[in-house]
Amino acid sequence: MDLMEKIYSKSKKLGKKICLPEPSDERVLYAAERVAKDGIAHPILLGKEDEIWEKARGLGIKLNDVEILEPSRSSTFQKYVEALYERRKEKGMTLDEAREILLNDPLYYAVMMVYLGDANGEVAGSASPTANVLRPALQVIKTRPGISLVSGAFIMLAEDDRVLIFADCAVNPDPNPDQLAEIALSSARTARSVAMIDEPKVAMLSFSTKGSAEHPLVDKVKEATRRAQELSKGEFDIDGEMQADTALVDSVAKKKMPGSSVAGRANVLIFPDLNSGNIGYKLVQRLGKAKAIGPILQGLAKPVNDLSRGCSVDDIYDLVAITSLLGEE
Ligand code: ACO
Repeated sequence: MDLMEKIYSKSKKLGKKICLPEPSDERVLYAAERVAKDGIAHPILLGKEDEIWEKARGLGIKLNDVEILEPSRSSTFQKYVEALYERRKEKGMTLDEAREILLNDPLYYAVMMVYLGDANGEVAGSASPTANVLRPALQVIKTRPGISLVSGAFIMLAEDDRVLIFADCAVNPDPNPDQLAEIALSSARTARSVAMIDEPKVAMLSFSTKGSAEHPLVDKVKEATRRAQELSKGEFDIDGEMQADTALVDSVAKKKMPGSSVAGRANVLIFPDLNSGNIGYKLVQRLGKAKAIGPILQGLAKPVNDLSRGCSVDDIYDLVAITSLLGEE
């Protein structure tokens, strides 16, 4: 069974409620129909019921097993306003502001549903920039205990059937060494729990391999590698700094980094910053014809996941299945 089949099969057993707050995007409606029909999850769409039904009818989409919820008419609306106010009042939010936000921004409403347990997870972003999806989740749901940083990983399914994790490709523009170390650990855990990689081998990427170049940017990755190894306490195989070919190609690894148990066999690639991570995954996806699944947000107390605005219906379907698995590890 390939990885996605395993993920679908697990999500069907879990039967989670997943909120999709952007039903004005027709890809979301197509995905919701398929998710419900295949039993991947119970989708909840947020928006005006008559508008959603009309749009679906026009597209020939059947939403029989899909829940539709209009935030302002929901019996839980006032409870959500109060809960959002409680969560953000120290940051200066007033009750009126909380009400305005929940009336006008379905991305906040979706996060409140997840926060208060009325949905198990949220998938959004086909119609919104990443920052608009992430900010409410970071502000309300926040990180899980013991974790200080949320980061975004992709599962990359290569044409030769290799499964790899790339991170951080979505959240932190310029992580410091401690933050990079935390990203490495979260990604190794995602490799195990979602990508079902039994032995994560984590490569801390750079333009240098073991001192081949000297620069403050290389020092950052060196320090991050040391911190990640320390934090991991031997749980995961982590090595660096190394170039991408050293991480992936055995013959290069033998020449440039002999003796490393990660080099040449890496299946978790940690990029030094968001420029390299985001550019890197898109190049591998578009030129290398790998399937990119994600970003999977790692480190949140409850699962919220963000789509690229260029996503397909299949991408939404897959991310709903993955979101169902998060929080189960
Ligand atoms: N982990 C945990 N918490 C965080 C993180 C993080 N990585 N980043 C911010 N926060 C928290 C802050 O502590 C703050 O909490 P508080 O308000 O309770 O004190 C809250 O989130 C908001 O923080 P700000 O710094 O005010 O948020 P900001 O508006 O700067 O945005 C964001 C944070 C959205 C994550 C920002 O860093 C960002 O835009 N990142 C890049 C996202 C992006 O564009 N990615 C590329 C596209 S993704 C793709 O192609 C798939």
